[in-house]
Amino acid sequence: MPVDTQRLAQQVMSRCDELAGCSSESGRITRLYLSEPMHAVHTRVTEWMRLAGLSPRIDHAGNCIGRLTSPTAEKALLIGSHLDTVPGAGRYDGVLGVLMSVAACHLLSGTSLPFHLDVVGFSEEEGVRFKMPYLGSSAVSGAFDPTWLDRTDANCICMRDAIKAFGLSPDAIADCKYAADEVIGFVEPHLEQGPVLERLDSPVGVVTGIAGQSRLRIVFRGEAGHAGTSPMEGRRDALVASAKLVRIVRDEAIRSSGLKATVGSLQVAPGTPNVIPGCVELTLDVRHLDDPTRETAVERLIAAGHRAADAEGCRMEVLEHNVHHSIQADDRLASLLSETVSEHATEPVLMESGAGHDAVVMGERFPMAMLFLRHPGGVSHHPDERVNVEDVVVGIEVLAEYLKKLSGHYQQVSLNTS
Ligand code: GLV
Ligand code: MN
Ligand code: MN
Repeated sequence: MPVDTQRLAQQVMSRCDELAGCSSESGRITRLYLSEPMHAVHTRVTEWMRLAGLSPRIDHAGNCIGRLTSPTAEKALLIGSHLDTVPGAGRYDGVLGVLMSVAACHLLSGTSLPFHLDVVGFSEEEGVRFKMPYLGSSAVSGAFDPTWLDRTDANCICMRDAIKAFGLSPDAIADCKYAADEVIGFVEPHLEQGPVLERLDSPVGVVTGIAGQSRLRIVFRGEAGHAGTSPMEGRRDALVASAKLVRIVRDEAIRSSGLKATVGSLQVAPGTPNVIPGCVELTLDVRHLDDPTRETAVERLIAAGHRAADAEGCRMEVLEHNVHHSIQADDRLASLLSETVSEHATEPVLMESGAGHDAVVMGERFPMAMLFLRHPGGVSHHPDERVNVEDVVVGIEVLAEYLKKLSGHYQQVSLNTS
């Protein structure tokens, strides 16, 4: 087994490299929802799924799902992560979890499972193209709201048309949903995207919970005017007002333990050197493991934004406010994962996730667990993302052993309850 797993881990690394080449920008990894390079990713991933004995399909939300069919099973266990990226991404966020899951299926070949095993490459986790995260997993969990189909991207293409242009049917999104009683659970292997496992010198960690997240779209409206002739006094500069909020957001998060708050994008209109900015739209991302702390912080930041706008003669409006509450891993799935880690790798590090994952949306409807892999350097959403191949070996072995353990456990529970 160790020799085989070494080869599989090397293969996972080279497949991550190969998918990194599927990008809409040369020299950078950028793969947004329903973009052209996602077709190339699907061609490769479905081929690799077939080689691992899975039957792949693309659902109408653009998720790539390969099934290891169990002849006697009624229910499925889902395992995987996402295939989209942020602009200028690293090569492992999301992709690594999908490819490690495929590799675990190779290790399982010949083992019969009492459930179908569905390896999922979710189509959209990052929320870049339509400013809305978790679209693929929302379709699978049944949380997809059909009004989202009217959202438009930066080129004014609506999601409905983008889905059609990709060769799929937006009217069939509801068919992507798995019923709660046909799913045993969802397991997501993922790069840690932080420094904890590296500091503790551990190859893998077991996630206990994921931080809640508020994503807001905010607009500051002032008045545009001539940059050379308008007096400096009395200007209503929307960028000056929003810059005050950007600073307050950073300072508030530094003051409040565990709070992460980020203004990640800012659009200035008319956005030209010789015109006073009349309108600024920005995004605000606020996260904390404790939901009330996050909610209070968001209220404070909104109030501070209004004060900054008033002080500059502008108006501020919250255009959109989406929330994902913090979520706990399923006790049973997570403790079996910890047991597997301690039997086959090391004493498990139990840890919380500050990053969002498809497991947030899946966990709202199905039992979920997450396995983290050590992240050398801990830098993510950045080309410098790295993993150690030796840790990938451990990750694949743990996943395969975990699936066997879950099989035994599931059979026992089914027998006891039948
Ligand atoms: C996803 O990567 C997120 O945490 O925003
Ligand atoms: Mn990410
Ligand atoms: Mn991710």
